[in-house]
Amino acid sequence: MAIQKVGVVGCGLMGSGIAQVCAASGFATVVREVSGELLDKGLKSIDKNLNRLAEKGAITEAAKGEIRGRLKGTTVIEDLKNCDVIIEAIIEQLPAKRELFGALDAICPPTTIFASNTSSLTITEIATATKRPQRFVGLHFFNPVPVMKLVEVVRTIATDPAVYEEMLAFGAKLGKTPVRAHDGTGFIVNRLLVPYLLDAIRALEEGVGSIEDIDNSMKLGCGHPMGPLTLLDFVGLDTTYYISQIMFEEFKERRFAAPPLLKRMVLAGWNGRKAGRGFYDYADPQKPKAMKF
Ligand code: 3HC
Repeated sequence: MAIQKVGVVGCGLMGSGIAQVCAASGFATVVREVSGELLDKGLKSIDKNLNRLAEKGAITEAAKGEIRGRLKGTTVIEDLKNCDVIIEAIIEQLPAKRELFGALDAICPPTTIFASNTSSLTITEIATATKRPQRFVGLHFFNPVPVMKLVEVVRTIATDPAVYEEMLAFGAKLGKTPVRAHDGTGFIVNRLLVPYLLDAIRALEEGVGSIEDIDNSMKLGCGHPMGPLTLLDFVGLDTTYYISQIMFEEFKERRFAAPPLLKRMVLAGWNGRKAGRGFYDYADPQKPKAMKF
């Protein structure tokens, strides 16, 4: 089956990035949000990204117009019914995802392939809300989606091998490097990344180093683009806390357990960059200042 039309559900941080990448890769793309207000916000962020790319000469004005022309926003789920692939990037809650896919299953032809961008939920458990678990995969993108080169393509024990190969090829058509992962909680990246991020918080709690010194160590000593505490602020402390709880529940291993400081920061609403405060204070976003605990 030649994939021509892609549906994206959710136009938040991840969904808008995914929709932008799909449209930029030549696919007719429909992105759906629950309200006109949220849809507007997501489409504006895509416009801002495309304008920035055009300003720095990475794309021409004509290409920008073509990409935008391939992208349609909607609040109506029925507008997704003739898509060849639908990628879900809504809130990380199992009941919401199961309900959405149940509804999509009822309106889409049996050929449509479903994909979830979940970072920690079990794909099998989402897929069983539909009558097509054999046409269901995980497509896990990374923030910021237009920049990060990876997509984890996740198969379950029920995924049809031909569908899986098609989704690996689709990931490559999006300009990403697809990696094969099976439906183990956290897939590959979060299996490795989450314990590392949690250990950075434990190192801070134990006084091994200051916030800046822990971050600089990994940036300058290991060539990471961001230190772990900066990355935690970037990903969101609430998001990391949520993922760690799911991973701990699955593996019952201390390395996935949330350190007390993370729990307290989330309780206080210090969720990182988006909240204006996490391990750093973002009062001046250009010059984040390390917090003193
Ligand atoms: N959207 C689109 N483009 C963006 C962007 C965004 N949100 N943020 C940055 N960019 C672009 C910039 O325009 C710039 O492009 P250019 O090189 O063509 O001019 C390029 O990215 C570099 O940006 P900056 O110069 O502003 O800043 P940096 O060099 O510090 O790069 C970064 C920013 C790409 C975010 C880099 O710091 C980085 O790679 N950080 C690590 C990000 C990471 O690890 N992400 C994965 C998180 S884990 C995850 O998502 C999984 C989930 O399940 C938890």
